[in-house]
Amino acid sequence: MTVTIVGAQLGDEGKGGIVDVFGEPADVVARYQGGDNAGHTVVHSGEKYKLSLVPSGAVRGKVGVLGGGCVVNPRTLFDELDRLREQGLDPDIRVARRAHIVFPYHRALDGIEEDVKSDDDQEVGTTGRGIGPAYEDKAGRRGVRAADLTDPDTLRERLEYVVPQKRALAERVFGAEAGERFDLEALYEEYRGYGERLDEEGMLVEAGAFLDGRIEAGDALLLEGAQGTVLDIDHGNYPYVTSSNPTAGGAATGTGLAPGVVGEEVVGVVKAYLSRVGSGPMPTELGGVPGDTPSYTEGQGEAEALATRIREAGGEYGTVTGRPRRVGWLDLPMVRYAARTSGFTGLAVNHVDTLAGFDEVRVAEAYRLDGERLERLPATVREWGACDPIYRRFEGWPETDWTAVTEAGYDALPANARAYLEYVCEETGVDMYAVGVGPGREETIVLEHPL
Ligand code: IMP
Repeated sequence: MTVTIVGAQLGDEGKGGIVDVFGEPADVVARYQGGDNAGHTVVHSGEKYKLSLVPSGAVRGKVGVLGGGCVVNPRTLFDELDRLREQGLDPDIRVARRAHIVFPYHRALDGIEEDVKSDDDQEVGTTGRGIGPAYEDKAGRRGVRAADLTDPDTLRERLEYVVPQKRALAERVFGAEAGERFDLEALYEEYRGYGERLDEEGMLVEAGAFLDGRIEAGDALLLEGAQGTVLDIDHGNYPYVTSSNPTAGGAATGTGLAPGVVGEEVVGVVKAYLSRVGSGPMPTELGGVPGDTPSYTEGQGEAEALATRIREAGGEYGTVTGRPRRVGWLDLPMVRYAARTSGFTGLAVNHVDTLAGFDEVRVAEAYRLDGERLERLPATVREWGACDPIYRRFEGWPETDWTAVTEAGYDALPANARAYLEYVCEETGVDMYAVGVGPGREETIVLEHPL
């Protein structure tokens, strides 16, 4: 049995909590895309674990797999593993032999290019982890894969080809100082060492065959998507996207499992409102965040006050940077689009408690673009940026004893909250599997468990 967890919006939907709850009976938790751009905090037995690359299930004793669709920064990987061991855990992590490696020059180039783009307000607002440049090298057939780290001749040959190119790019195209992050010999020595460690610890696997074998043996698998649908390189809001496929199709290519296997159960995780980190359009945005909101203007009055209230109640600040996230009302064209693109079989809606206490809660049921009603997400930034939301208004629901509600179950939710949730299910044609009413795993109401 396999369940795939996908973010339905722009990341930060609370996937970690849902992975936690639905991953409970899973034996293996695998990531299929992204790298150490996906910061998450796991709280287990009162202890806090901060992770960005290692799948969160590793904290709970599951086998963690980084699939071939991931980009792996070995410095981060071994830092995280060492830290988990210091905290008394014994994580079992496998890395796909086909996964690509993130080098320090990728991080350097990520920063350099964002800087250059910012001169014309074109920066994406990346996490600066070198994710885009690493995927560029993968597509450009000049990447180094995890298996290459264990073969010194191949590693040297690949680095001898690629490092001088990267150095020239930094210095001659961007006019930046290259420095030690482009030092071939130092990189070769350090990364050969990581190869030895991967080998010694028996971490490298043929991911597809490994995962298939576990399914054959009767194990339950959870495939954990990072980021979200609208950050998908193909289906997202290009160019304000990450460089991989968080949608369910990425779970097949990024693990080596067949589409039918990864599509068996696909849970779309939705936040009851919307947040966005970095730049790009956001038709339902309330207020705005200077530096991130395109053409931000100060003093948006009531909208700004609503945004602040949701941001504070929902803790909408970047985990690493502490930057305020942009917030807005739920965007249904986006969620419908996500449901179709990934074939959601179930929804998990989080942060229902965050919206408590408002007189009115809104949902964009469609957009208006050039005088026409539009139910779908347009393909370009220009069109999406020009969309005005058409809102449906719901009566708000009161502050509630959420612990009591979780114990009593779905029917104990305030009636107005249920009306809101049932509308989302109707509009997307997807059943509700879970409702989150607080940050802890015990504050999730499970209606249907996919495993
Ligand atoms: P990158 O993945 O670092 O290249 O960043 C590309 C875009 O994806 C930027 O807008 C980031 O803010 C966004 N992004 C990447 N990872 C996350 C995440 O875990 N949560 C929310 N946004 C993310």
